[in-house]
Amino acid sequence: MAFDKDMKKYYLDQIDQIKSGSLYKQERKLLSPQYASVQVECPKGVRTDGIINICSNNYLGMSDHPEVLAAAKEMLDTRGYGMSSVRFICGTQDIHIDLENKMSLFLGMDDTILYSSAFDANLGIFEALLDENCAIFTDSLNHASIIDGTRLCKARKYRYANNDMDDLQLKLEEEKNSKIKLIVTDGVFSMDGTVAQIDKICELARMYKALVMVDDSHATGFMGKTGRGTHELHNVMGEVDIISTTFGKALGGASGGCISGRQEIIEILRQRSRPYLFSNSISPVVVGGVLKVMNMIMGSSERRDKLENNTKFWKQGLTDAGFILTNTQSPIVPVMLFNAKLSQDFSKTLYDEGVYAIGFFYPVVPKGKARIRTQISAAHEKHHLEKALDAFKNVGKKYGILGKTREEIIEMYPISDKL
Ligand SMILES: Cc1ncc(COP(=O)(O)O)c(C=O)c1O
Repeated sequence: MAFDKDMKKYYLDQIDQIKSGSLYKQERKLLSPQYASVQVECPKGVRTDGIINICSNNYLGMSDHPEVLAAAKEMLDTRGYGMSSVRFICGTQDIHIDLENKMSLFLGMDDTILYSSAFDANLGIFEALLDENCAIFTDSLNHASIIDGTRLCKARKYRYANNDMDDLQLKLEEEKNSKIKLIVTDGVFSMDGTVAQIDKICELARMYKALVMVDDSHATGFMGKTGRGTHELHNVMGEVDIISTTFGKALGGASGGCISGRQEIIEILRQRSRPYLFSNSISPVVVGGVLKVMNMIMGSSERRDKLENNTKFWKQGLTDAGFILTNTQSPIVPVMLFNAKLSQDFSKTLYDEGVYAIGFFYPVVPKGKARIRTQISAAHEKHHLEKALDAFKNVGKKYGILGKTREEIIEMYPISDKL
């Protein structure tokens, strides 16, 4: 066995380092499906009273919807469990094509290509489309998968300040003569809940002849009047060239993702995108579930409207209680606490009050910007949100932060970003 004590020490030292920086991630065990209230195994035993879950990406409450489960089971019976192949060998069923067509129709794009995850989609696009004569302009708050995807590609990279159109323009100016320019942004920034200025980005793209790509993982299915996403919200459907998105959040929460875009771009990806070419097809069970979700949300905006109303209620309740929120425009509602230890203590105390929400601190968010990130779902009923609000108020009172300004909170809990 080559794994000797020096190698073991090499990894143990790293684990210790992670722990000493308080960056070690503990996972709680859920013993129920993902819903508004979940059963959780905790050190004191299983909490069967149901903890209100206010931190999942189950935006439309589809993760255990009976119709979605039935559709997934039907595919299990009629198409089998797995494809045992990549798409171009023998991994394409009729339902994979149906889902691609459905996504194109919904997002208003020419064509769509499926991936095992949105992470894979973002890993596989840049290298396939751009070479060393091209340039990428990427928002500084873009998701890790975009950062990694751009690293795999030889194009020149420019990181512009978050949502800062002047900075983006300055950088576009520098690359006036490059062969292909591509601006890429998250539609909704997942730590702040803010929305990218896609309309302004499209304007700049027209001026500088650049392609626009939006990762709408935190938007597809519910942002915009009919839930198409941030391009609908900003009235630029037809102007965004590429959308990447996930099936792991609003669209059922299982797994999988896709890229929708101009016909020629999708055709190139089918030929050249490595995570598509060399990774297994999405399971028919998942495809069946997502197809059902798509039929449901294309047939009615009821769930998306409920999510919007729930979010308004939640934001108002927290604001009235005296919490400081980010300037969020989405169901991601971060409650600012600034101090890292306070964010962890707050989360633990909330849990004791029956509410499950996670505290984030550096390096997940910038230093001095620790927070509890809450995420609202259409699965939440009024009574869930009222109970959660009461818990937030109790915990806020306990730590003495209700109605306090940022400066006052920082005076009580100086920023150290160490637990
Ligand atoms: C903006 C964004 N893009 C991509 C992903 C990756 O999605 P998936 O879980 O499908 O890999 C996430 C998930 O956290 C995300 O938030």
